[in-house]
Amino acid sequence: MTERLPLMAGNWKMNLDHLEAIRHTQKLAFTLADKDYAAVEVAVLVPFTDLRSVQTLVDGDKLKIKYGSQDISQHDGGAYTGEVSGPMLSKLNCAYAVIGHSERRQYHGENEEIVNAKVKAAYRNGITPILCIGEPLDIRKAGTHVEYTLGQLDGALDGVPASDAETIVVAYEPVWAIGTGEVATPEDAQEVCGAIRARLAELYTPELAGKVRVLYGGSVKSSSAAGLMAKPDIDGGLIGGASLDADEFVKIVRYRD
Ligand code: G3P
Repeated sequence: MTERLPLMAGNWKMNLDHLEAIRHTQKLAFTLADKDYAAVEVAVLVPFTDLRSVQTLVDGDKLKIKYGSQDISQHDGGAYTGEVSGPMLSKLNCAYAVIGHSERRQYHGENEEIVNAKVKAAYRNGITPILCIGEPLDIRKAGTHVEYTLGQLDGALDGVPASDAETIVVAYEPVWAIGTGEVATPEDAQEVCGAIRARLAELYTPELAGKVRVLYGGSVKSSSAAGLMAKPDIDGGLIGGASLDADEFVKIVRYRD
């Protein structure tokens, strides 16, 4: 079986200004040891206003923490007020961009077409997408959560070549688990993450599907991380609230302990 380096990524959402970001990232870096980074890739996904501060800190202290944005424009420049382009993010050495987060889909009307265009914009600019997909509660209750989530995957990857898709990170984030404290059971998370990997094998190849890291997100805490990570198709977490507490986030990174 392909070995996949686990990824624990903290999505700070609209929290921590550029000064708080420095303090938080420094605390993370001072708390984590080399052995931690050897076992798990650690990333922080920060507000646009924090990126330069985080970049300066990571570069200056040669920190092993990857960083990225929580969105990206589908356009590489021009009259798109308020948006931030892939070239701008690439100039800040962003490793990742979160794309299609349910909060963007809900509050900003991001549909499959826009999500797909953003995935392509990320790859055009050398940035790895962290693609968020997952069902709302009514779909879960209807029992069509796998088909729903795979439909989002299909839409996001439309026209994306294997040479790009093989590096994508997919985060299964059931909307009913985000910010609610209602973490999915490892079994429920595995069901969808396994289906995501199987669909990637159909869309591309089993080899590509074996390489892609599939994360779970939605109320992950240090108490639930190990159970989720014990599942074969879960390769890490996309952590919201718990990532704002450095000690808790470190415990999640150290889920094997
Ligand atoms: O992107 C991760 C986020 O949606 C999960 O948030 O607070 O439920 O961990 P939270």
